[in-house]
Amino acid sequence: MKKIVFYCLASAGSLLLLTRGGGLSAGGGFLSNGIRPAVSVPADNPQTDAKIRLGKQLYFDKRLSADNTISCATCHAPGTGWANHGATDTGIKGQVGGRNSGSIIDSAYMKSQFWDGRAATLEAQAVGPIANPIEMGETLENVVLKLNAIPGYKAQFRDVFGTDASADAIGKAIAAFERTIISGPSPYDRYLRGETGAMPASAVRGLAVFNGKGHCSACHSGPSFSDGGFHNLGVGFEKGGFKDEGRYKMTAAAKDLGAFKTPGLRNTAQTYPYLHDGSEKTLEAVIDFYDRGGVPNGNLDRLMVPLHLTVKEKADLLSFLNSLTGPVPEIKEPELPN
Ligand code: HEC
Ligand code: HEC
Repeated sequence: MKKIVFYCLASAGSLLLLTRGGGLSAGGGFLSNGIRPAVSVPADNPQTDAKIRLGKQLYFDKRLSADNTISCATCHAPGTGWANHGATDTGIKGQVGGRNSGSIIDSAYMKSQFWDGRAATLEAQAVGPIANPIEMGETLENVVLKLNAIPGYKAQFRDVFGTDASADAIGKAIAAFERTIISGPSPYDRYLRGETGAMPASAVRGLAVFNGKGHCSACHSGPSFSDGGFHNLGVGFEKGGFKDEGRYKMTAAAKDLGAFKTPGLRNTAQTYPYLHDGSEKTLEAVIDFYDRGGVPNGNLDRLMVPLHLTVKEKADLLSFLNSLTGPVPEIKEPELPN
C-alpha cells in the first residue's frame, strides 16, 4: 500500500516539474498506473463457464467467415500475443487492411474498441469483423444461418442463451471469452505489491522516466496504461495529409484528424509491430519516435515534444516496458462442434 501512495506523489511531482519547466500540462494530470481492478462485466452478459466455452469455439471457428478460411484467431492468435505480427492484416481472399490488429489481451479493460474507438463494447466489437468485407466478409444473417445448421452449436446456444444463435448471442459469447484473456501479474505488478526485486533496477529507473522526463503516463495512464483518449502523434502523416484520418472518421471534429486511441501497454513486448499502421517494428524504434517528438503536423498533440532522452534513459524505459509482460492464460485451439 505504501508504494502506491508513493507513486501517486511521484507522479503528481513530475506533473508540477513539467508544468513549470516545459509549459506542458497533461490536462487531467498524470495518473498513477496502479494495481488493476477486476474486469467489469456488463449486467446483461454475465460470465458463465458454458458461455465462455462457446465463445472460445466461435473465436477459433473459420466458418464465421464467408469462405471458411478466416477466424478471429487468424489475426489475433494466442501464439503471437493475441495479435498478429504483420504490419497490417490480411483477411479473406488475401485482402490487406490498413491497420495493425490490436491485441485482445486486456481489451476488456478498454473504454472503447478499435483504433478509432468506433465500438463501445466488446459485444459490439465482436460482430464487426464478421461483416467487414476485407476481414471475414460474411453477413451476420448468413453466419447465424450457418451456426444454426450445426447441431452442436444450436444446442449450445439454446443451453447458454435459451434461444437459437443470433448476432446478439454471438457477440455476447465471444465477448465473454475475451474477458478471460487478461494478463496475470507482471514484474511491475509484483513490484507494486512490494516485491522490490521483481523488476530489475533498470526498469525501476525506467518507471521514473515513464512518469517524469518522458511523460508517457500523461496518456498511458491508469492500470491498463491507457487514458482511453485519442491523440495525434503524427503517425502516418505525409505531405498532403494523413493516410488514415483516425478518430476524425467518427466525429468529423477537426481536433480528431490523425488522432488514434491510446493503446494499453500490458504485454506490449509481445504485440509488435507497433502503432496503428504497424510502422514501427520494435519498442526501441517506438521510443526513438517519441524522442524525436513524433511527426510534426498541424494537429500534433501538444505533449509531443522532443524528449532529449539519453542512451541510458532509453534503455531504462525499454526495460520498464518489458516489465509489463505478465502470463496470459494458455489457450489451445478447441474442438469445434459439428
Ligand atoms: C483479417 C484480420 C482480422 C480478423 C479476422 C479479426 N480481426 Fe480483430 N482486429 C483486426 C484489426 C486490423 C484491428 C484494428 C482495426 C481498427 O482499429 O480499425 C482489430 C481490432 C480488434 C479489437 C480491438 C482491439 C483494440 O485494442 O481496440 C478486438 C477486441 C478484436 N479485433 C477482436 C476480434 C474478434 C473477436 C474477431 C472475430 C470475430 C476479430 N477481431 C477478427 C484484424 C482482424
Ligand atoms: C500524447 C499522448 C501520448 C504520449 C505522451 C505517449 N503516448 Fe504512446 N501512444 C499514444 C497513442 C495515441 C498511440 C497510438 C498512436 C497511433 O498509432 O497513431 C501510442 C502508441 C504507443 C505504443 C505502441 C503500442 C502498440 O500496441 O502499437 C507504445 C509502445 C507507446 N505508445 C509507448 C509510449 C512511451 C514509452 C511513451 C513515453 C516516451 C509514450 N508512449 C507517450 C499516446 C501517447
